[in-house]
Amino acid sequence: MSHGEYTYLKRVKMKVEDLKVGMFVGQLDKKWADSSFLFQGFPIEGKKHIEQLRRECKYVYVDFKTQEEYDVFLLNTAKEEEVKEEVPDIQLLDELPTALKLFDEISKASKIVMRQAMQDGNIDLDPISKCVAGCIGSLERYPDALLLAVNVKNKIHYTSEHSMRVSILSMAFGLEIGMTQEQVRILGISAMLHDIGKGAIPHKILNKSGKLDKAEALLVRDHPKESFRILSKIKDINSDIKEVALSHHEREDGRGYPRNIPKDRVSRFAKIVSIVDAYDAIISDRPYSDGRPAPHALKILENGSGSKFDPHLITAFLKWIGMYPVGTLVELRTGEVAFVLKRNPKKSLSPRIMIVTDENKKTGHQKVIDLSAMIIHSSGRPYKIGAALKNRAFGINIRKYLDKENFDVPEWCKPQTSNNDSPFAKYL
Ligand SMILES: [Fe+2]
Repeated sequence: MSHGEYTYLKRVKMKVEDLKVGMFVGQLDKKWADSSFLFQGFPIEGKKHIEQLRRECKYVYVDFKTQEEYDVFLLNTAKEEEVKEEVPDIQLLDELPTALKLFDEISKASKIVMRQAMQDGNIDLDPISKCVAGCIGSLERYPDALLLAVNVKNKIHYTSEHSMRVSILSMAFGLEIGMTQEQVRILGISAMLHDIGKGAIPHKILNKSGKLDKAEALLVRDHPKESFRILSKIKDINSDIKEVALSHHEREDGRGYPRNIPKDRVSRFAKIVSIVDAYDAIISDRPYSDGRPAPHALKILENGSGSKFDPHLITAFLKWIGMYPVGTLVELRTGEVAFVLKRNPKKSLSPRIMIVTDENKKTGHQKVIDLSAMIIHSSGRPYKIGAALKNRAFGINIRKYLDKENFDVPEWCKPQTSNNDSPFAKYL
């Protein structure tokens, strides 16, 4: 983006208390003319600058000119805690229908492209490009809506739905770490197509629960090359998209496949897809096994930091997705089951949740509570998460609760002035 005489990659709103020397102030919370600053945009050179800004403003906009500058900022500050304003929940309900529709559309587009790849290799990228653009719009408006929608999993269509989930999660993460819209678009399409070569592998090998024999393992390890080959046939395809297909199983320590190449030859796109691909594979149900709870997957990713995965990206990913990602089913210490509606960047162990069963796992009545509000259950114990559960534990399909007409407790999304006499009303 350009502003006056200079350009910047990312502009972040920050409270004046959080400013640091070296940051570049691109805009104030008032007109420049109404301030005592001589320059319209300046680097903070010392404490005096900071004190002056604190006297005159409540917040300012800080510009980051390069990806590196912004990465350092993300890793060194609790960015979400400081700069994001509370978004009213009403926006979640507003965005959900669009997010669910996008989920269905991208799901269809993903299956069609897999079929085209297998039939004559004549792939039409237009439907995918359109879906990706739609997803970026939704993620920019209210990311948690699409992240909730993406949790609707179906083990029968694992391969195509997995690619779609990797695509949406990668795009959400890409936006979070300050990628440009064009970069996020390339990332989304790449993630969607990265495993397209898997279509050539027989289902019985892909879905085999035991160890693969040598020939089978070779076939599976060949899928990045097969994906690359299929994508190379598409006229005018962006070379970054092909590179992700070829490199998403390369590792940080250079011991990946198919080329065993060092980390500096693997793109940032491929490194992100590699992380999200692993994360979704671990938490998803397969035809032969159930997915694992999200915190297990995050631990596995953390253990692979520096060997399998880029350590900076892993740190940013873990921080972004939180201990209990949106859509995760959890069992509360009271025995009730809930799922995560909204992350809490300040307290990742206390997200906003929708409780969907009673203590005996009986469904029928929902309520939404904010765990950070320390609400006390009728038993006298505070509501707290006891454990994260697997996808669809106790037969719970969160999709049922995402359709607007099925919200049993619509009060939670209304302004706080509503006449709700529930004991939870003040927290909603
Ligand atoms: Fe793969």
